[in-house]
Amino acid sequence: MAIEDKMESLTKHRAEAKLGGGAKRIEAQHEKGKLTARERIALLCDEGTFEELDAFVAHRATEFGLADKKFLGDAVVTGYGNIHGRLTYVFAQDFTVFGGSLSEVVSHKICKVMDMAVRNGAPIIGLNDSGGARIQEGVLSLGGYGDIFLRNTLASGVIPQISVIMGPAAGGAVYSPALTDFIFMVKGTGQMYITGPDVIKAVTGEEVTHEQLGGAMTHATMSGVCHFMAENDQDCLEKVRRLLSYFPQNNMEETPIAPVSDDSNRIDQELLYIVPEDPSKAYNMKEVIWRVVDNGEFMEVHEHYAANIITGFARLNGRSVGIVAQQPSVAAGVIDIDASMKGARFVRFLDCFNIPIITLTDVPGFMPGTDQEYGGIIKHGAKMIYAYSEATVPKVSVITRKAYGGAYVVMSSKHLRGDINYAWPTAEIAVMGPDGAVNIIYRDTIAKSENPEETRRNLIADYIDKFANPYVAASLGYIDDVIDPRETRPKLIKALEMLQNKRDTNPPKKHGNIPL
Ligand code: HXC
Repeated sequence: MAIEDKMESLTKHRAEAKLGGGAKRIEAQHEKGKLTARERIALLCDEGTFEELDAFVAHRATEFGLADKKFLGDAVVTGYGNIHGRLTYVFAQDFTVFGGSLSEVVSHKICKVMDMAVRNGAPIIGLNDSGGARIQEGVLSLGGYGDIFLRNTLASGVIPQISVIMGPAAGGAVYSPALTDFIFMVKGTGQMYITGPDVIKAVTGEEVTHEQLGGAMTHATMSGVCHFMAENDQDCLEKVRRLLSYFPQNNMEETPIAPVSDDSNRIDQELLYIVPEDPSKAYNMKEVIWRVVDNGEFMEVHEHYAANIITGFARLNGRSVGIVAQQPSVAAGVIDIDASMKGARFVRFLDCFNIPIITLTDVPGFMPGTDQEYGGIIKHGAKMIYAYSEATVPKVSVITRKAYGGAYVVMSSKHLRGDINYAWPTAEIAVMGPDGAVNIIYRDTIAKSENPEETRRNLIADYIDKFANPYVAASLGYIDDVIDPRETRPKLIKALEMLQNKRDTNPPKKHGNIPL
């Protein structure tokens, strides 16, 4: 055969592979408001950088009439490309081929790029849109999931792994995304559940729609499974690109320093007045974050879940940082079970990938109540302590107002190897708030006094004077400095620069045993 004919055959093969499940199914995909796997990859990667692998792989199944029903590439598109000029591996399930279901060869293709990502130290992004295990392939398909789960687990903490749910993810298929670092979901089309509405109705009698059960809103607000919601495919892929810009390529690297247009010495007058004079009044901690970080850009993680704690990415003088902060305007910024899990997992991600942790503290304590105790606030709260204690990345904190009780210790304190601990003059560092404290330690004195209310007021004033300030902690060196709130940005930037060569280690061990 002449080379021209061979080239024609190659062109024909390529065209066939590009067509996935065919024009009709592509149309159906578009009608559902979804892009195809290849269209998604084209938006995700820098233009023209994607190199596809295994486009000619086809399934080997022969039963259930599959011998004559083959599609080049089968139900996933895999390969590598650049995002912001940096290497990234990608797989995108192709719903137009057998509903994106996972066959033996689909799992082989996914595992191949996962292995390459680990070997070459670059992130992997999975775009999920699949009916789950390929029913016709039985245990081969189940085994394929197992192969992926194992790789997700081994790659955890080595390379960033991001899952994007752009269609169904049902049954055990949800567990690969669940093992990765961050999950994005597209509203209206991305759905995740262990069992669908029909099975639920048969087993428990409950009636629920697909979207109510496993849509983006459900997982972003109620279960916390979803970290980022998006309006549509385009919006989602743009957000994935943005998130990736905060990460290093792998656990041996640091995130490259971004070009900066914001002054590192910038002071902000408004920060002086953010904390209200009345300590029982709320304020928006995000206002502090926006005013301090480069150009006010903050990419919030888990925005709609456990909003009493804020987690997210920003930059300080071009350096990528993770921010953990209380939100006094939601439940007074108390730490409850959900906040603790949200904060701890985020801290552990930052530590895995050498991203410094900035902590902004205004916390009245752990959440009291039977709900919380029965739900295991003891074991879940311990996750935060564990995560902060174990973290060896630079840890810089600012106490803006309350740092009470165990919550003082948890929030990046000196006692858990906090590197630099600042407090604003408005900080109150104590075992508990003045009211509670006085009621406990002076119960008898108050009861026996001639004017209990006045006695109580005086004792509270005395307590505030003694304890509800940052100076006791500062006199002990637990607080490194009490800073002018207006200078928070330059102070944080200088601390981070000082800590840029920080070396700290944990004792050698197989792995710790974080309270799960
Ligand atoms: C083989 C499948 C399939 C599957 C869908 N298809 N799911 N083929 N195995 N799991 C095929 C359909 O036959 C159809 O083929 C095409 O994909 C599109 O599917 P539709 O049903 O027409 O699409 P839609 O109406 O959009 O519904 C999508 C869906 C539904 C909600 C995902 O297809 C569905 O419920 N599928 C089964 C989901 C499921 O229960 N999977 C198993 C989960 S258990 P044609 O040729 O007609 O276009 C699991 C175990 C993993 O995954 C265990 C890991 C440990």
